[in-house]
Amino acid sequence: MAAAMVLGAGAALAEPQAEVLHWWTSGGEAKSVQVLMDEFASRGGTWTDMPVAGGGGDAAMTALRARVLSGNAPTAVQLKGPAIQEWYEEGVLANINAVAMANNWDELLPEAIADHMKCDGEYCAAPVNVHRVNWIWGNAQVLADAGLEMPTTWAEFNAAAETLQGMGITPLAHGGQSWQDATVFESIAVGLGGADFFRAALIDLDEAALTSDTMIAVFDQLRILRGFVDDDFSGRDWNLATAMVMNGEAAFQIMGDWAKGEFMAAGLVPGKDFLCAPTPGGGYLYNVDSFAMFSVEGQDNIDGQNLLAELIMGENFQEVFNLNKGSIPARLDVPLDAFDYCAGRSGYDMDVASGNGSLLPSYAHGMALRGAQAGAITDTVTAFFNSDMSSADAVTALALAVKNSM
Ligand code: BGC
Repeated sequence: MAAAMVLGAGAALAEPQAEVLHWWTSGGEAKSVQVLMDEFASRGGTWTDMPVAGGGGDAAMTALRARVLSGNAPTAVQLKGPAIQEWYEEGVLANINAVAMANNWDELLPEAIADHMKCDGEYCAAPVNVHRVNWIWGNAQVLADAGLEMPTTWAEFNAAAETLQGMGITPLAHGGQSWQDATVFESIAVGLGGADFFRAALIDLDEAALTSDTMIAVFDQLRILRGFVDDDFSGRDWNLATAMVMNGEAAFQIMGDWAKGEFMAAGLVPGKDFLCAPTPGGGYLYNVDSFAMFSVEGQDNIDGQNLLAELIMGENFQEVFNLNKGSIPARLDVPLDAFDYCAGRSGYDMDVASGNGSLLPSYAHGMALRGAQAGAITDTVTAFFNSDMSSADAVTALALAVKNSM
């Protein structure tokens, strides 16, 4: 009986706990992560929030490393792509395979997404969404006033930007942070070069592709875009660039669909106040947000991890979170009926792209390459964007940086 009492007391005390490290701090992002916090609390969990501001997650990843090195990893971490495997290889990730099996994740997820979430064949991370990276966002009124439509080729984009510039409007809202430069760069790369070029250059890191005439043309277009950005872009956060499009100071932003979450959080309506279009040339660059669980002690923490994993893949969460976040659900069985035309386009294009081989992992958002290689490319892109380096010099520097990172 004493044993039963002890067990009973223990069970009553065990309460799911999670310290969650993430970088969702902008208006749309905060609204989205709140959905998970609320669901976690409603199931009796205690959430300790560890937000680390900084778009793209660079600062969050630095904070994570410090925490793990000091032997004090958070219970759950916003982590994605090959970085999940890199942390697994350090021996610090927990296994959530039992939750995944109990909830049929293998049937609910596209195989490519499931693969990103697995460590040695077992689930170690849970996916929340699919973001498309290569989008242009436009201010509907500004474009109507200028008599312009959303551009469908880069030449059209350049011509529209010149018209806007003549009207005193900043054509392209951009924040001068290296991951934002990388976002624009890879969107041009897939558009101008196509899927095979993107794969050869930015996934397989093939030297001939990295130094090709196509890559020179990609840098040429990036140089042209640099001329459409205002003088104060340096260090600007991505959501402040989105705000410039919202208030009509700028016409376009090239950014993943987390920007849509920002427009929506401000009460703006897609198709009326703002417009979306894939960046010219097509291809679908995907970016799947996910949470990896780190090895922690204590039943309350383990319960917290399992509960989080279950909620993240829940049907309701996948719908509500993604309505706020600008992305589409990772789960295949969540209908897009409640979503807007941009999400509908994303879902449709993803299907088409997956059928014709142009569904590609985003290098700029940590889906395609390991940290060292992605960092080498981004450093070169940023150095180019912030200097008068020629495109020919840029491709030489790019190939060398990649080689040195291996
Ligand atoms: C993440 C998004 C996030 C964006 C801006 C991307 O890398 O996948 O979830 O909203 O960065 O911080």
